[in-house]
Amino acid sequence: MTASLKSTIKFYLNFVPTYLALYRQVLYDWHRFKKYSSYSMSIFFLQSNGRVKTAEQLSALVQADAHKIEKALAITNPRPGFGVAVVKRLRKNMLEYYHRFNFNSRLEIAYSTLLKYIDFNKKQQSLDEDLEQLILQIEEEITELKMLDHKAAGLIEFSKKDYHQNSKKDLENFFMGRYSIRQFSDEEVSMALLKKAVQLAAKTPSVCNRQSYHAFIFQGREKAQSVLSYQLGNRGFGEQVDSVITVTADLSCFFSATERNQAWIDGGLYAMSLMYALHSLGLGCCPLNWSVEPKRDCALKDASGISHSHSIIMMIAIGHLQDNFKVAKSKRKPMNELCTVIESPIKASSL
Ligand SMILES: Cc1cc2nc3c(=O)[nH]c(=O)nc-3n(C[C@H](O)[C@H](O)[C@H](O)COP(=O)(O)O)c2cc1C
Repeated sequence: MTASLKSTIKFYLNFVPTYLALYRQVLYDWHRFKKYSSYSMSIFFLQSNGRVKTAEQLSALVQADAHKIEKALAITNPRPGFGVAVVKRLRKNMLEYYHRFNFNSRLEIAYSTLLKYIDFNKKQQSLDEDLEQLILQIEEEITELKMLDHKAAGLIEFSKKDYHQNSKKDLENFFMGRYSIRQFSDEEVSMALLKKAVQLAAKTPSVCNRQSYHAFIFQGREKAQSVLSYQLGNRGFGEQVDSVITVTADLSCFFSATERNQAWIDGGLYAMSLMYALHSLGLGCCPLNWSVEPKRDCALKDASGISHSHSIIMMIAIGHLQDNFKVAKSKRKPMNELCTVIESPIKASSL
């Protein structure tokens, strides 16, 4: 056997198991996602109608719709009478949750959001009375709601001065004082500030310090508007955004099938640091999802020059704060839902 044939056989002997390992692990991800997510709900327009399997899945549908309404109320000019289909779907999913799984904190948040929705539309004289009745009837079925003060959702009003003054005092205030900002002033954001934020965020840890993350800066309204035209979650406030940073992670930095999700972790950690950096510099920002189909992903990459080897993690909309503005409360889960303390001893690994 010649040396070159030997090396070809050796290559394939190594290559085939490596290839199969990748294939097996992708199938594993696919299978787990299929099994644990409620991915098929999109076929039914996110209306469960008894279809979702678990409390967590239904709770997530309730939370997502409640948030849709809460954040729509936090933009500068919400459209009077907006979101009727979402309100109706939310109501049905809430009642289904209660009857199948009992009460939980998401129902409180959802209901208090719906009451804020009624208040807003009353002020705008755009309230459909039948819809109001449908909403108020929820309390007749979910009786626990009657005992609550309905302050779990809504808006918090800030002055620019207070928003940042609290953050400077100590870290607790810094963390608790960051909100997703969806109202921005006309003031331009300088490249120096954006780069300063990128530099601060570069302190983010990453696997083996490989720093797969990358920030693509789209400075100025014109570029911001163009890049936002590819993103699906900025309706109602995108036009106020001054600049956008698109956070990516480069798959070229990973070399093992077990790292197939690492880009999302390194990139996600980096994105959070970047948002805290922007917050520390006195800017407002809002994370924007990049949960898109391959066609949209490729279209943005082709239009903007982002290499196809990069996974787009998310966009961050950035701008200066207005003197006074509103943010969605986005209340967090209570401690008993936030963490689980493992009490019993666990068997040490023998792998
Ligand atoms: C990855 C990611 C994607 C998001 N996408 C959007 C979006 O497309 N549009 C939007 O208005 N908000 C978006 N948000 C903002 C969330 O709604 C917000 O972070 C959440 O409600 C918590 O509120 P807070 O940031 O004010 O603490 C996104 C947040 C994250 C982390």
